[in-house]
Amino acid sequence: MIEIRDLSLAFPNPAAADGRTVVLRDFNLSVAPGEFIAIVGASGVGKSTLLRVVAGLVPTNSGTVSHAQGGGDLKGRRPYGMVFQDARLLPWRTVRSNVAFGLEGLGLSRADRRRRAEEALALVGLADKAGRWPHQLSGGQRQRVAIARALAVDPDLLMMDEPFGALDAITRQTLQDELLDLWRRTSKTILFVTHDIDEAVYLADRVILLAGSPATVRSEDRITTARPRARDDSAARALATRIRDRLSDLMDGGGI
Ligand SMILES: Nc1ncnc2c1ncn2[C@@H]1O[C@H](COP(=O)(O)OP(=O)(O)OP(=O)(O)O)[C@@H](O)[C@H]1O
Ligand SMILES: [Mg+2]
Repeated sequence: MIEIRDLSLAFPNPAAADGRTVVLRDFNLSVAPGEFIAIVGASGVGKSTLLRVVAGLVPTNSGTVSHAQGGGDLKGRRPYGMVFQDARLLPWRTVRSNVAFGLEGLGLSRADRRRRAEEALALVGLADKAGRWPHQLSGGQRQRVAIARALAVDPDLLMMDEPFGALDAITRQTLQDELLDLWRRTSKTILFVTHDIDEAVYLADRVILLAGSPATVRSEDRITTARPRARDDSAARALATRIRDRLSDLMDGGGI
């Protein structure tokens, strides 16, 4: 599905001796169709940058990123959807119109855009909120709208950058379960960035720990436990502790 090969990327940095910061060097990652990948790592390591590279939003210095499209024809679709920590809704548009926003420019009729937006809202359980304004929603509902907006373009790949980071613990758990349910029903490939290791272990098929400058894949843990998973599963807790320990060792050792 996604094949990242020998990727290198540097940003200009006037404060550095050589005038640049190398964020990724010779970076490799393969993601299978339908796989749920969690990406963790210290702040500033390059997680968001990696998503932007996969989205083609930042130029790379060398290497390749290839996407195999699972769904064939891309008419009326986009290759990926993005969800961020904040919902980024337009306050002057209704919920339906916010979701339809990403569908503009795809050659769909107004009626089709409306229908697709309503289908996406139904997927996140907000069909009855289509006519509301963003300020009339709770934080969790706004984040659901952002997920609907990403899904409306029917992407094969969903990229989520700390999507639940700003939510309270209960809402966060609810949205995690809803996301797993959506993922099961839509069979999207998901790249999910989080600072919450328990969340990564609960959700993902594979947890990738990024570390170093430039960043590399420091560890990779596959989780084969069937879903629905228990939140207090002892093996999952032990794995989360191991990943946290690695992360703090790296920080103690100045490895980040
Ligand atoms: N447009 C840019 N220009 C220059 N440097 C940048 C740019 N975007 C990111 N960087 C730098 O690249 C590095 C990686 O940033 P990135 O945002 O990917 O980190 P992150 O892992 O997502 O961190 P966080 O967990 O805090 O969100 C940082 O050192 C950052 O300062
Ligand atoms: Mg980030």
